[in-house]
Amino acid sequence: MPATRTRKKVADLGAVAAGLAHEIRNPLNSLYINSQLLEEMLSELPERSVPQKDDLLSLARANLKVTQRLNDTLSGFLRFARPPAMDLSLVDLNRIVEETLRFLEVDFSYHGVALKTRYHASPLPLLADEKQLKQALLNLLLNAEEALDKEEKVIRVSTGARGGRPFVRIQDNGRGIPRADRRQIFRIFFTTRKNGSGLGLSIVRQIIHQHGGTISLRSREGHGTTVTVSLPFEAQFRAMYPGRLPLALPPRADR
Ligand SMILES: Nc1ncnc2c1ncn2[C@@H]1O[C@H](COP(=O)(O)OP(=O)(O)O)[C@@H](O)[C@H]1O
Ligand SMILES: [Mg+2]
Repeated sequence: MPATRTRKKVADLGAVAAGLAHEIRNPLNSLYINSQLLEEMLSELPERSVPQKDDLLSLARANLKVTQRLNDTLSGFLRFARPPAMDLSLVDLNRIVEETLRFLEVDFSYHGVALKTRYHASPLPLLADEKQLKQALLNLLLNAEEALDKEEKVIRVSTGARGGRPFVRIQDNGRGIPRADRRQIFRIFFTTRKNGSGLGLSIVRQIIHQHGGTISLRSREGHGTTVTVSLPFEAQFRAMYPGRLPLALPPRADR
């Protein structure tokens, strides 16, 4: 099949999948709410009023968990199929990284993860969708955390500028990625984790590409993984999309 026809077919399939996901969303939502109610009602029954109360309750809880998971998968897929519009503003990559890490601080210390950070000495101005960029970083940091399998758990995060471009690097000393998996990890729904969704990295890649950036990965099995996200400076980003961006941005506190 010629390349253009193949591409059209893939695009059509994508639209069908997104439509299907939308169709499933409402009934799934009812199912989710009903499962919640059922679980509540069962747990409030007086002890021994129904002989199989415990069995019923554990069935209801299992259903609730499955519907919750389906809901998450569906929302993730819809987000991927129809990425939200970019809400651009002038931001400092250092601050974005710092705030994302602050969000994870408690979780990291609870799990015994040593976090080591190194920030570029001066601000790194980007034109970015702050919420989306934080989402991407969060996904990468959670992957790093989930990969940690050693007694000493370390995640290093640094920012800098290299080759005239700002970057953020996330390094873990976890299990690493087997060679055979490396080409697959960005594919939607690819996961090696028992409770994984396989959505994290496909969304990360989408967000980074929308920001005109690149993502690269180095990994050694058994030793750890380093992910580097490189992004254009504000001026470079403007040059990449001439005429398509607002010339003046509203003033921000961090400008
Ligand atoms: N830092 C990492 N170390 C080891 N494996 C990783 C790392 N990041 C991603 N992976 C691999 O890539 C897969 C896909 O990641 P992702 O798209 O975030 O989905 P999920 O986290 O739901 O599995 C993971 O299941 C894991 O096998
Ligand atoms: Mg993930």
